[in-house]
Amino acid sequence: MLEVDLAQVPRGHQADRLAGELRASVRTGTLRSGTRLPASRTLAGDLGVSRGVVVRAYELLAAEGYLLSRQGSGTTVAAVAGGGEHRPVARARPASNPGLPSGDTFPRPAWARCASRALAALTDDDLGYGDPAGLPRLREELARYLGRVRSVLAPPEQILVVNGFAQASRLVADVARASGDPRIGVEDPGSVGMREQLEAGGLSCVPIPVDGRGLCVDALAASEVRAVVVTPAHQFPTGAVLAPERRHSLLRWARDRGGLVVEDDYDAEFRYDRTPVGALQGLGPDVVLYGGSVSKTLAPGLRLGWMVVPPPLVTAYREAKYAADLSCGVLDQASLAEFLARGEMDRHIRRMAVEYRRRRDALTAAAATHLPGWSVAGTAAGLHLVLHPPATPSPESDSALAAAAQAAGLDARPLSRYCVAIPRQGLVVGYGHQPAADLARAVRAFGLR
Ligand SMILES: Cc1ncc(COP(=O)(O)O)c(C=O)c1O
Repeated sequence: MLEVDLAQVPRGHQADRLAGELRASVRTGTLRSGTRLPASRTLAGDLGVSRGVVVRAYELLAAEGYLLSRQGSGTTVAAVAGGGEHRPVARARPASNPGLPSGDTFPRPAWARCASRALAALTDDDLGYGDPAGLPRLREELARYLGRVRSVLAPPEQILVVNGFAQASRLVADVARASGDPRIGVEDPGSVGMREQLEAGGLSCVPIPVDGRGLCVDALAASEVRAVVVTPAHQFPTGAVLAPERRHSLLRWARDRGGLVVEDDYDAEFRYDRTPVGALQGLGPDVVLYGGSVSKTLAPGLRLGWMVVPPPLVTAYREAKYAADLSCGVLDQASLAEFLARGEMDRHIRRMAVEYRRRRDALTAAAATHLPGWSVAGTAAGLHLVLHPPATPSPESDSALAAAAQAAGLDARPLSRYCVAIPRQGLVVGYGHQPAADLARAVRAFGLR
């Protein structure tokens, strides 16, 4: 019954060890509720220990509630919650957005080196409760990186390190709610996960339409919201880039209305047809709250991101972050600071941009060959694109098309899922985490369905 060799265990510890084995067996369900255990004398004989060892172990587990000892009916296993249910932990929720970066090209050796150096350099004080806004060294590195790569005007004192853009959205909701403004504009179509964060934070989301030139600023001006979340560099999910005149009219809207533009710069490091357009924040640091993360450049599992907050809002956001979770983990922050300082981020992005472009090209070439009548929408950027089915009325909904595309091996979601007020049909396809050959094969299989 038990794989335990008590002969090797010092005498004074045999009862504890036996109790530990029995307890684990009850918890995992190997010993089910109601099972009758051998008499103490029998088990002691089997295990080659004195009877007292078994008696002490049974008494301990009876006192803890794992076993029941009744005169005349021996010792049985009690009903324990969770007993008999030894299942692996299920994944609670898959990510709702496509566009995962490639997992197998995560720069493990470089990250490990940076983490090791970062740990060695942390002072004892650094290991205490840190600044809610983030590790100063990381904020300095981010100021340099965001200025250089995204033309963001980001003095370190305006930077807040957060757990990805998801937390940035939640903090936006917390601060807006506290200021008594419960409504916020969101792009339609737009990110489901971000809307969920805003709504969970108590805001009501007002959909603002998007067209081929990005957010329709006229429609925003016609609404009554005073804050809006946008993805100007690469609209999610349509892939449009906010047109230059709309960038200016959006900033004008914010200044005229005393409003706030929340810029979600989620994948702007990857642009394949030209240099990425700089962040909107660089044009309007007074009215733009900028957010980004390593979720596309490195890995979403790191849960590391940043916000650049206009000066009048810095205190409110710092307090909201403190109220949420005190601050981000210091070792991850220090590792990222090292990763940026040593140029590892630049190297990784350069390498991955070549690979992602290859993957996108494979996907679009296969679509041109195997999906006649379909069109590819969106700028050559990021880690996803949109495929539109032929204009002739299709008997299949985009949900059915997405299911077929997934069955063929594509990371495809129905475009309709991201829409709020204006229905659209299409497939949002992530290509970052599949090799080019797999993408081509999957598109071919989808075309042959
Ligand atoms: C539109 C959009 N914004 C932001 C993110 C990144 O969110 P986070 O930084 O919380 O991982 C994603 C990830 O898929 C996204 O699709």
